Amino acid sequence: MISTINGHRLEVRSLAKQFTLHSRGGILVEGFRDINFTLSNGQLLALSGPSGAGKSSILKTIYRTYLANQGEILFRRSDDSVIDMASCPVSRILDLRRREIGFVTQFLKILPRISALDGVAHPLIEIGVAEDEARERARIMLQRLGIREELFDLSPLTFSGGEQQRVNIARGIIAPKDLILLDEPTASLDEKSSDIVLELLKNLKERGIALVAIFHDQRKIDRVADKSIDVRRKEI
Ligand SMILES: Nc1ncnc2c1ncn2[C@@H]1O[C@H](COP(=O)(O)OP(=O)(O)OP(=O)(O)O)[C@@H](O)[C@H]1O
Ligand SMILES: [Mg+2]
Repeated sequence: MISTINGHRLEVRSLAKQFTLHSRGGILVEGFRDINFTLSNGQLLALSGPSGAGKSSILKTIYRTYLANQGEILFRRSDDSVIDMASCPVSRILDLRRREIGFVTQFLKILPRISALDGVAHPLIEIGVAEDEARERARIMLQRLGIREELFDLSPLTFSGGEQQRVNIARGIIAPKDLILLDEPTASLDEKSSDIVLELLKNLKERGIALVAIFHDQRKIDRVADKSIDVRRKEI
């Protein structure tokens, strides 16, 4: 077991990802390279940079949707043990995803027969919260994100892009986690909704949750981030 990452929640060292396109005769496409940072409880790291620079790939590699080619992702678990998420068995990753690490994808995956309210309550029910309480907490979260009550019992299929994004954020942050990864959480939101989301992220930080989030707008980064990385391809 790795004994110390100096009290940080997360330490990423020399992380790199290359995609091998087997369907194209093994062509290599660079995702990103040489990513290094530390993140403590209650801190937010912002990733920014041009389209195609590798920001989403970094989040997906930390979440182990993608397997790193190089580097370490050292995560401090709630029992204080440290695990390298770049190399640990998949079964451990599934365990981490259940209670400790959350991911807010850029777009909501919509299940047509599930209402917005039930979709947001689901992560709580999954960890054993009683159904009534889970739905009540989901209601409060959706209200807080400015979703109109009349939409709660509908499938988000017909929601606007910004409404879907807010439902997605609600679902991603409602259950308690130690680390949450967010891919462009304010991308399709107007200023008012963005402000609400930024306030929610600040609340998560106050609760000691560590966050890694992709933003394009420097003003948003200035408002919520404790540190930032400008992800760019280094030409060689
Ligand atoms: N699954 C994949 N297979 C092959 N190449 C991929 C895959 N995922 C990402 N890439 C490549 O990795 C590079 C980085 O993509 P990524 O989606 O991480 O960029 P990004 O910084 O999030 O861009 P954007 O701001 O447009 O969302 C791109 O060149 C992309 O084509
Ligand atoms: Mg992206």
